[in-house]
Amino acid sequence: MNSTTMPPLEVDDFTVTLHTPTLSVRPVDGVSYSVQAGEVLAVVGESGSGKTILNMAPLDLLPVGVDAEMKGSVRFEGRDLLNMSTSELEAVRGGGIGVVFQDPLSALNPVRKIGRQLTEGIERHLGLTPTQAENRTAELLTLVGLPDPKSRMQQYPHELSGGQRQRVGIAMGISGEPRVLIADEPTTALDVTVQAQIVELLKDLQKRMGMAIVIITHDFGVVSGLADKVAVMYAGRLSELGSVRDVLIDPAHPYTRGLLQSVPSLTVPMDTKFLGLPGQPPNMAYRIEGCAFAPRCIEARADCHVNRPSLLSVPHSASDRLAACPVIVNQFA
Ligand SMILES: Nc1ncnc2c1ncn2[C@@H]1O[C@H](COP(=O)(O)OP(=O)(O)OP(=O)(O)O)[C@@H](O)[C@H]1O
Ligand SMILES: [Mg+2]
Repeated sequence: MNSTTMPPLEVDDFTVTLHTPTLSVRPVDGVSYSVQAGEVLAVVGESGSGKTILNMAPLDLLPVGVDAEMKGSVRFEGRDLLNMSTSELEAVRGGGIGVVFQDPLSALNPVRKIGRQLTEGIERHLGLTPTQAENRTAELLTLVGLPDPKSRMQQYPHELSGGQRQRVGIAMGISGEPRVLIADEPTTALDVTVQAQIVELLKDLQKRMGMAIVIITHDFGVVSGLADKVAVMYAGRLSELGSVRDVLIDPAHPYTRGLLQSVPSLTVPMDTKFLGLPGQPPNMAYRIEGCAFAPRCIEARADCHVNRPSLLSVPHSASDRLAACPVIVNQFA
């Protein structure tokens, strides 16, 4: 495989165990997927399903003090992030891989001007002079829809609105001209108009720069508007992975069906059988036998509580699609 066909991001049997003084939890359990250049993958799933840990742990971006044991591999352009030294990882973060945080304040230093925070990263990752980096910063702020960038650059984070800060966060994420952008709920807590503008902006950037994007979101409007593929997470495992068209229009996994039930505006066939989501996700501090969703699933058979389902190819899908549910996959056959 040469570098033009190698997916820039390949996650293979990735498992994260978090050790705290009192217990160990496994928020990511055997996850595999890849993202091609110019492709957008949306990661969806209930709160606590492991979306943030899945994407931030390999980049060493978990909160300070969290002890994460990682297995499997997360390859960026063929190099495993899990084997990189701290300095190699630092060079990748903000360089080859850009990150947009859910809370833009966590990425911004409250006591330093916006402009300085952006130009520093640009100088470092693109090797530009301070003046060149300042001009590039102004261009970026204009690109993310912040007019009058020169005066913005003189402001502190608290002087901006939530939407403006989120745009600065996106500018920071793309400032190193990354080949992969990881965006953790970049539109959460924004009003609908601003959300739509951010989605348009990401689409535009993705086309213009040919980036691969992994976007974590709760919003199926964002999924259908932006993503090519969708990965559905449940209790740290992938339950379904496929094209947005397959997964949203004809969900295979009972969990995906239940998740989509809460989205009344979505165009789904009237005969789609929704199963709802009674009960709670499992506690990931305990070893989960069988299918993690089985206790909440009305399709579950005795076997589902015993054997962990692997991801199976779903027949008659418009494109490659996998679901971790032998019961339903057999019905598609
Ligand atoms: N600092 C921590 N210490 C211990 N366990 C943690 C910590 N952070 C997360 N976890 C565990 O990891 C699981 C996954 O967390 P994660 O933040 O990845 O969820 P998420 O899918 O991003 O949720 P949300 O949609 O609410 O952002 C949690 O359910 C929790 O059990
Ligand atoms: Mg999260």
